[in-house]
Amino acid sequence: MSVTADNMTQHSGQTAAEAGRRRTFAVISHPDAGKSTLTEALALHAAAISSAGAVHGKGDRRGVTSDWMEMEQARGISITSAALRIDYGDCVLNLLDTPGHADFSEDTYRVLSAVDCAIMLLDSAKGLEPQTLKLFDVCRARRMPVITFVNKWDRPGREPLELLDEIEQRIGLRPTPMNWPVGIAGDFRGLIDRASGVYTKMHRTPGGATRAVEEELTAEQAAEVEEETWVQASEEIELLEEIGAGYDEESFLAGESSPVLFGAALPNFGVSALLDTLVSLAPPPGDLLDAKGEPRPVGALFSGQVFKMQANMDKAHRDRMAFVRVASGRFERGMVLTHAETGRPFATKYTQAVFGSERSTIDTAYPGDVIALINAQALSVGDTLYEGQKVVFPPIPSFAPEHFVVARALDSGRYKQFQRGIAQLDSEGVVQVLTSDVRGEQAPVLAAVGPLQFDVVKHRMEEEFRAPVELSHLDYCLARRTDAESAPTLHGLSGAEVMKRRSDGELLMLVHNKWRLRVIERDHPDLTMEPLLAGG
Ligand code: G4P
Repeated sequence: MSVTADNMTQHSGQTAAEAGRRRTFAVISHPDAGKSTLTEALALHAAAISSAGAVHGKGDRRGVTSDWMEMEQARGISITSAALRIDYGDCVLNLLDTPGHADFSEDTYRVLSAVDCAIMLLDSAKGLEPQTLKLFDVCRARRMPVITFVNKWDRPGREPLELLDEIEQRIGLRPTPMNWPVGIAGDFRGLIDRASGVYTKMHRTPGGATRAVEEELTAEQAAEVEEETWVQASEEIELLEEIGAGYDEESFLAGESSPVLFGAALPNFGVSALLDTLVSLAPPPGDLLDAKGEPRPVGALFSGQVFKMQANMDKAHRDRMAFVRVASGRFERGMVLTHAETGRPFATKYTQAVFGSERSTIDTAYPGDVIALINAQALSVGDTLYEGQKVVFPPIPSFAPEHFVVARALDSGRYKQFQRGIAQLDSEGVVQVLTSDVRGEQAPVLAAVGPLQFDVVKHRMEEEFRAPVELSHLDYCLARRTDAESAPTLHGLSGAEVMKRRSDGELLMLVHNKWRLRVIERDHPDLTMEPLLAGG
């Protein structure tokens, strides 16, 4: 073997080993289920374990936040608006943010195309909620492994068996509890680890939102301390054994069963079990399939895909930032990559500035990591960057829009700029642009998953393209995919309209509401009306 080939093999082996240490995941949840609290708890817990071994400190929530910022500087936890890197033992955990609340948008779904696993976070009193279901839909379409964390067990909630039943019945995901709560929600005593039988007792510290202390007990000790609640939990575990609700790797990795953990993020109880489960069960980055269906080995030269774009809203710094998930190889700041869509070189010397001087700079990154590239004017969501031989990853799908507006140029003299701006925002994936012969090119319909996407359009059209727009709300809230045969009939129906999506030519039927849709489906069973990904 020549020296170069030898070096290459060594390089590739090192990259594959680094990939093996990574777990790249996102939390899917409904607002208020505790995503921010859990994120903080995961980061704090991991950092506490990695340092002096003081697992539980004291302090209120405010304390936790400031601890976190200090930690960020001291331990190199790097936070971007897209990803949080957590070092835990030998592993590097990349937690990608899934924006929720008011900023819920198509980006929230796209993030799920950049992770290998999701944590489905449920509020113990509420179970499955609408936003969680939509996000789960995207995970299911990708056959992504999902770990379930039932949160807020320290507060009154539902029966654990009832929650498991809901997961199985409503979304067909087979729950396999990894641990089991002793004491009902609201009277939480501790957790039994099903594999080892070890009982971890929760000791509350006085003062409400302070963190709990975990103490390990044997089954005999636990039976003595917890009495009746212990007996009940043991009976429930026996029932689980009888119905065969044991962990099964194959179905977990295929997205068909889900390991379930119970806990409470606020008092930081059950969080270490979740971290350990992520490390031991969640898959490391694997060889991704390219657009031709060929696997790109993680140890190959660098390749990555843009999953999110962020435009700077500041007039003085009108740059764009691209968030790229590394698919293969080792990234080094300063590398010159090739942009697959244009064949042009892309210099990465500006990566550092994104993270700023106070935050840890990412000079190197490996498969599963997220890098942020600034000055990324040429890039769009779904684009591929590579080194060496050309590779193109399959496009990131468009998701079911639920908000629709008509866009018009306020100044007819700026119509050219208006057209250019709309086309640019379409290609970046800021909104989906729909057109039809009936409405004409002058008044395209913009479709979005979250209304915030329209704010971005308004702002950028005015500031960047100097073509202010008027956006008028359209009374539709659902879309279905249809075809050329069905379109003429559907288009004439009341409460519906068929339009073409510019980016991929798909025909979409927009409908006023789900009742109207039901009537149309009942009256026209032979016509094509397929749900879109994550559609309502
Ligand atoms: P989100 O990001 O998913 O929207 O939820 P977030 O973490 O902000 O949590 C929503 C509320 O639920 C917060 O209360 C938070 O303290 C509480 N919470 C989260 N996890 C737990 C838990 O394990 N147990 C209990 N008892 N509460 C939990 P808040 O009153 O809205 O906010 P704050 O005043 O506490 O910040």
